[in-house]
Amino acid sequence: MTPYLFFAGTESSMMAEFGGLAMSGLNLLGSLFLFIVGLAMLAAIIMFVIDVTQSRSAIRRNYPVIGRFRTLFSHLGEFFRQYFFALDREEMPFNRAERQWVDHVSEDGSDVVPFGSTKILDPGTPIFANGLFPTLDDDMPPKPDFIIGPNTRKPYHPGSLFNISAMSYGSLSKPAVQALSHGAALARCFLNTGEGGVSPYHLEGGCDVVYQLGTAKFGARNEDATLNDEKLKKLCENPHIKMVEIKLSQGAKPGKGGILPGKKVSAEIADIRGIEEGKSALSPNRHVDVANVEELLDLIHRVRETSGLPTGIKLCVGQTKPIIDLLKAIKSRGDDSAPDYIVVDGGDGGTGAAPLPLIDNTGLTVRESLPLMDDLLNEYGLRDRVKLIASGKLITSADVAWAFCAGADMVNNARGFMFALGCIQALKCDKNTCPTGITTHNPRLQRGLNPANKAVRVHNYVKNIIKEVEIIAHACGVDEPRDLKREHLLIVQSSGRSVPFDQVWDRSKYM
Ligand SMILES: Cc1cc2nc3c(=O)[nH]c(=O)nc-3n(C[C@H](O)[C@H](O)[C@H](O)COP(=O)(O)O)c2cc1C
Repeated sequence: MTPYLFFAGTESSMMAEFGGLAMSGLNLLGSLFLFIVGLAMLAAIIMFVIDVTQSRSAIRRNYPVIGRFRTLFSHLGEFFRQYFFALDREEMPFNRAERQWVDHVSEDGSDVVPFGSTKILDPGTPIFANGLFPTLDDDMPPKPDFIIGPNTRKPYHPGSLFNISAMSYGSLSKPAVQALSHGAALARCFLNTGEGGVSPYHLEGGCDVVYQLGTAKFGARNEDATLNDEKLKKLCENPHIKMVEIKLSQGAKPGKGGILPGKKVSAEIADIRGIEEGKSALSPNRHVDVANVEELLDLIHRVRETSGLPTGIKLCVGQTKPIIDLLKAIKSRGDDSAPDYIVVDGGDGGTGAAPLPLIDNTGLTVRESLPLMDDLLNEYGLRDRVKLIASGKLITSADVAWAFCAGADMVNNARGFMFALGCIQALKCDKNTCPTGITTHNPRLQRGLNPANKAVRVHNYVKNIIKEVEIIAHACGVDEPRDLKREHLLIVQSSGRSVPFDQVWDRSKYM
């Protein structure tokens, strides 16, 4: 046999073998295909029978099987709209332009944009009234000392005018709180613990911490949700805890206590809060020991005396009368009885979980409540005594500069910091399935959140907000953000014209 014939023989037997293999592969694929089609048909028949016999959904009963796609597409639409369909300034609560801006400054990206503004000047848009002679950036005089609670045993000198608003360990994950704590230390801003108590992760970065005393008083409570002075005293001996904040209400859910869904109550969180693992943690809808302004002032006094720290309150303004009653009660007891600061939270503020009518329709937005509170404090001669902190959708430098013009001494923010941590507004904060690891306790999802590099983003966010608010202040011809006043603010009207803030603001309408 010649070598050629030998190879020819080998080749043809290999071909035959390959052909045989291909045929059996095709046969297998064919059978698999038929099996899958059969399975799909069987599933469709089962779904058909279920749909026509059930009575809960009219759509599925009238359009069996096909009706199910509606739920699927509505669910998928939530994810895909933001990528393919929603315009830059369309989504709620924060549109893509706002989210991308926070993302950009958190990366310390370039601080300029090309060509010109794409912003639509809707009614209510603030316009800053620039001066003819801006303050030279290099010419800034030293900032005056700003102190909260100067008469307390440990007055607080905040390092930043933009700070991290209350978000508890529980509503946020461990790596998220760690990133905020380290980031706050880099930025020299404070981190508010939220109502879930002080966790080791809040303290880990060595930043300034504000301990929030929520209505359940987690961390300093007796069984019946009254204050435990011993626990409060011990907690506040920690040198990182700089202030105590008594939470009366939060903009997203005034009149409703904190809700931590059972899915998020891990063994560790249950331990920190002193509650049962896996069971929803519901705080009372007000402090059980505070039913009127006198009892509130008693609690403020007791907390301040026990902790030695500046003590403030957080509230969302609704009715004006109880606020006036509080200011009158302070005046009759003496200015020292006042809270050292008040956080005015907007009705459109964020939350981990809350009922829709409270999220949507309860409490004034900070656009109204901040100038109102500023006016009332002025009227009762308490404006210097009580520092005013604003929060509620103040996530860009323009929002923050607006707040300074409208009366704020400082600004707190929650969801902007969530964007700095990588939040994509998936709206899953209450589900334990947050895809970015920020509000979930699922270790697999938390793996994506690296506290070390997110801490740098938190720092960049604070740094760039302050830098840009200073740019606005200088453009208006003043030295620093706290010098911004109402005269620097115009508000766009529905006519398209902008009008000085004081001409559109009429406090008497709220009385
Ligand atoms: C996930 C999450 C958890 C929150 N937890 C608390 C809390 O424990 N206590 C509180 O007073 N406010 C809480 N808030 C409200 C914020 O502190 C803040 O007042 C509000 O979100 C302001 O709006 P902003 O997110 O636009 O800054 C929470 C907000 C979010 C988004």
